Amino acid sequence: MCRRSARRFLLEWGCWKQAYSSPLNRKGVSVHARTFKEIRDAFIAFFEQKAHCHLPSSSLVPRKDPTVLLTTAGMLQFKPIFMGAEKPEHSRVVTVQKCFRTTDLDNVGRTARHHTFFQMLGNFSFGDYFKSEVIPWAWEFLTVNLEIPRERLWISVFETDDEAYRIWHDVVGVAAERIVRMGAEDNFWAAGLTGPCGPCSEIYVDLGVEAGNGNPDARLGEDDTRFLEVWNLVFMEFNRDESGQLTPLPAKNIDTGMGLERLASVLQGVRSNYDTDMIQPILQSVAKVAGRAYGSDAKTDVSLKLISDHLRASVFLIADGVVPSNEGRGYVLRRIIRRAFRHGRLLGISEHFLHRQVGTVVEMYGDFYTELVERELLVTETLLEEERRFGQTIDRGMALLDEALAGLSSGSQLDGNTAFELYDTYGFPLDLTLELAHERGIGVDEAGFERLMVAQRDRARAAREKAGIAFSADAVATAVSRFSGYVGLRGVSEVVDVLDLGAGKTGIVLDETPFYAESGGQVGDTGHLFGVIGNEAEGSGEAVWDTQRRNQAIIHVMSGATGFQVGDQVVARVDGDRRAAIRRHHTATHLLHAALRQVLGTHVTQAGSLVQADGLRFDFTLARAMTDAEIAQVEALVNTEILKNMVVDTAVMDFAAARDSGAMALFDEKYGDAVRVLSIGAFSKELCGGTHVASTGEIGLFKVLSESGIAAGVRRIEAVAGLAAYGWAVQTAQTLRVVGDRLKSSLPDIPERLEKLQENLRATEKQLSALQAQLAVARTAALVGAVEEASGVRFLAAAQMDLTPDALRTAAYSLFEHLNDAVVLLVGVHGGKVSAVALVPDPLIARGVRAGDVLKRFMDEIGGRGSGKANFAQGGGGDATRIDVALKQLKTWLPGLLQTVQT
Ligand code: SER
Repeated sequence: MCRRSARRFLLEWGCWKQAYSSPLNRKGVSVHARTFKEIRDAFIAFFEQKAHCHLPSSSLVPRKDPTVLLTTAGMLQFKPIFMGAEKPEHSRVVTVQKCFRTTDLDNVGRTARHHTFFQMLGNFSFGDYFKSEVIPWAWEFLTVNLEIPRERLWISVFETDDEAYRIWHDVVGVAAERIVRMGAEDNFWAAGLTGPCGPCSEIYVDLGVEAGNGNPDARLGEDDTRFLEVWNLVFMEFNRDESGQLTPLPAKNIDTGMGLERLASVLQGVRSNYDTDMIQPILQSVAKVAGRAYGSDAKTDVSLKLISDHLRASVFLIADGVVPSNEGRGYVLRRIIRRAFRHGRLLGISEHFLHRQVGTVVEMYGDFYTELVERELLVTETLLEEERRFGQTIDRGMALLDEALAGLSSGSQLDGNTAFELYDTYGFPLDLTLELAHERGIGVDEAGFERLMVAQRDRARAAREKAGIAFSADAVATAVSRFSGYVGLRGVSEVVDVLDLGAGKTGIVLDETPFYAESGGQVGDTGHLFGVIGNEAEGSGEAVWDTQRRNQAIIHVMSGATGFQVGDQVVARVDGDRRAAIRRHHTATHLLHAALRQVLGTHVTQAGSLVQADGLRFDFTLARAMTDAEIAQVEALVNTEILKNMVVDTAVMDFAAARDSGAMALFDEKYGDAVRVLSIGAFSKELCGGTHVASTGEIGLFKVLSESGIAAGVRRIEAVAGLAAYGWAVQTAQTLRVVGDRLKSSLPDIPERLEKLQENLRATEKQLSALQAQLAVARTAALVGAVEEASGVRFLAAAQMDLTPDALRTAAYSLFEHLNDAVVLLVGVHGGKVSAVALVPDPLIARGVRAGDVLKRFMDEIGGRGSGKANFAQGGGGDATRIDVALKQLKTWLPGLLQTVQT
């Protein structure tokens, strides 16, 4: 970003004042403000140029480390590699990792730097490079690519790490007074009490005296706010076991981490991470809803900052599959959503506002983290659901708390009973109560609260055991449910079982339900259960996230303690839009199956399927890949059957009758005596228990997205139908429109325009290569002066950097002609690769000197290969660092040879 637009950007976000007073800018030091996307891209590009593979961020829910709740650092996904348990696919990796830390929760909003969610730029070496490479690279990236003035950077190293000190001092050239040795607390990094760890070196930016404690002579370590740590380089070489013992890891590794938010604040010249383009759009949007200006008073700013942080974090957590609950990571999410909601109230926002901001976050980050775009709806709905739940109780809870606190003086304690009632009845996470009490200088009897929690858990377990209700997810579900959802999406029924499914999930079993439990490839339904019949107002129900079957019980999977008990009457209502989308994909799957058999033959059989709301997957047996024509034919056939708008018929009959009627059945599936046969005219007849459209026209449109092999003899088709197909069409048309605009071409002319551009490119490349050759001739002309003479015969043996093989040949011929009757050996290096050309004039050939021999002599010396005729030879490869030595040796060998030849 140029300086003018950087300034415009800062003005837009209303932080010109901070920018102007920023130490880096005020001193007139040239700092190029950059958007966070530019910084992120520059980091990736820098390490890609150094042969790193860019891998995506792993999920915030760590899959490879069950010991941590949420991903706290970039290295977490690579822990098994560091430990030697997994082999890396690439030994150099660069990532931008989503991280979440709960350690700073209390400070969020109150300081310039603390966050829950943040992003970490990191480069990693798995037994590849080590300190001597990573230290100069880090310096180069900060000072050259990002143009941070060298005199603003300070370095810390582990107290005994002389090697790192020496590299910083002797190789990079950092002055001794700006390298500080520190102890293990600062400069020995570990992800936890056990596991991979090692000494580290940190890079700090000096923000200037004004940012610190006023001491102009303060050094790193003597002023906490003036020196901002931006990059941590960890030399990961040990494993720490349970006893604290350090043992060397199988390889020496590098793990670096640089907080993107901090770096953006430095480069954008603002005092706080919250004033960067990583947060400001969210913060300003919330400020608008609240009708408050950011920067007008300290309390408002705390709430705005806290809401922005928690909101951004919640969006990322939900998109990674975390669901608000009372346990584990679900509880972390619930805490931050409710905390943000409460701060909304402090700002005077009375509506449900958090879910309305999701679009802003997705717009800011969706280009890079595509899961946000894919799950925007889920994120919005989850936030709204949580806002509704808490919105119903927060005011009454606050009134209860206010009353209890009013009777207490500063320094005293709120009793455990009230804290528990706030938690149990009003949904106040304990931390929220703690925070509210602390604001008035009052403590909370946490031990008393904990005792009541334990007692409640015991009571619930006893009640369940007494009622004979299965308690664990593994326990056999004995209840029997009837499925009523072929015809309706709503039903009133009775709770017959409550299951603790573990991981904060509860299973509610009803005697009859319209919810379809996952089976036959069709995913389970989602929707709501309502405890009060007749009150199905938005927000009054409890969400069903999935439906599963165990034995004969249909289990509605819900989060946390639902409050439903055996014997309760409930209304069950399926999410109709989602079900309709699933239905379209299911019937489309049957049409696809039949179309495949028509086009490819009846030996094609189903090997698996997945039917979802946003697409379908169909696996089938076929020994080869389908041709494009076959795919087009199948797609057209399915769409033709859709347009015929055929009635989809179901009939229940016994298995033998179904088989005799020609219905397709899967032989590894179990069928009961009575089976359901689904017919679509004469086109398709299959056994199926799933839900389908009434007539094929409802499917609308069918589009194959891909065909690929997944195992020997098994192919997979991915396709979309209905609204998902429409979405695909819209998106594709949009992309083409953009391409057309960029090419300045109408849609039908795009292929021709591209062809022309490619032609132009080829012609330009040709010209370029001719110019390169001319340039090479000009550059090597001076070598004429290096010609030597021995025994009356002239020869030139020289090397030139940055010569492509083509240019080298042209240059060698030009020198050869110019020198007239001299032996020429010209060596070029391009992109680290050596190539060489040897030319011998006819009079010498007549005397037995061969270009092939001259070249071979040289190539043998550097370890390369080559061959040729008497007058011309060329070759390549070998060690570029040995060129000088090889040329010298050639210069003694050649005269000797010529002498022999002469005599
Ligand atoms: N693991 C180190 C950190 O989190 C460096 O990436 O600071």
